[in-house]
Amino acid sequence: MEERTLVIIKPDGVERNLTGHLLKEFERNDLRISHLKTMQPEMALVRKHYAELADKPFFNDLLTYFTRGPVVVFLVDGRNAVKRVRELVGVTDPKAARLNTLRSLYGIDKSENTIHASDSFESAEREIKLWFKELFNN
Ligand code: PPS
Repeated sequence: MEERTLVIIKPDGVERNLTGHLLKEFERNDLRISHLKTMQPEMALVRKHYAELADKPFFNDLLTYFTRGPVVVFLVDGRNAVKRVRELVGVTDPKAARLNTLRSLYGIDKSENTIHASDSFESAEREIKLWFKELFNN
C-alpha cells in the first residue's frame, strides 16, 4: 500500500554533517522524499510530538536535546513506507539495532540516536500534521 511517513534527522545528525548521507540512504532504498525542511524546533512542538513520553524520567533531557539545534524534517513516500523506513532506521538503542541500519551505523546512544521515524501509520498521520501544518487547511 502506498504510504507516507515522517522522518526527522535529530540535532546530533545535523551537527555531525550527516544530513546528505542519511537522505541518500532513503533514495537508495527506493523511497521518495516528498517534502523537506530544516528548522529550529520550538519546545512546544517537541512536547506535543513526544506527549506520550511526558511521564518518563528522561523527558526533560529529551526536550533539551531535541531543541539544542536545527533538525531536518521530511516526508517519505512509498509502498509500505512506514515499515520500510523503520527497518532502514533500526530500533531505538543503536547498540541493539540490526547491522547496517542507520542507527547502528550513526547513533550514539538511546537519546542521541540520530534519526526519528514514525512508528505506525497512525503516528505518521499525527506527526505529519504537527510538523507540516502548512500542508493542511485547518
Ligand atoms: S520507552 O521508554 O520504551 O517508551 O522509550 P523508547 O521507545 O525506547 O524511546 C522513545 C523515544 O525517547 C527517546 N529516548 C530517550 N531520550 C533521552 N534519554 C533517554 N534515556 C531516552 N531513552 C529513549 C528515544 O530516542 C526515542 O525517540 P524516537 O525519536 O521516538 O525514536
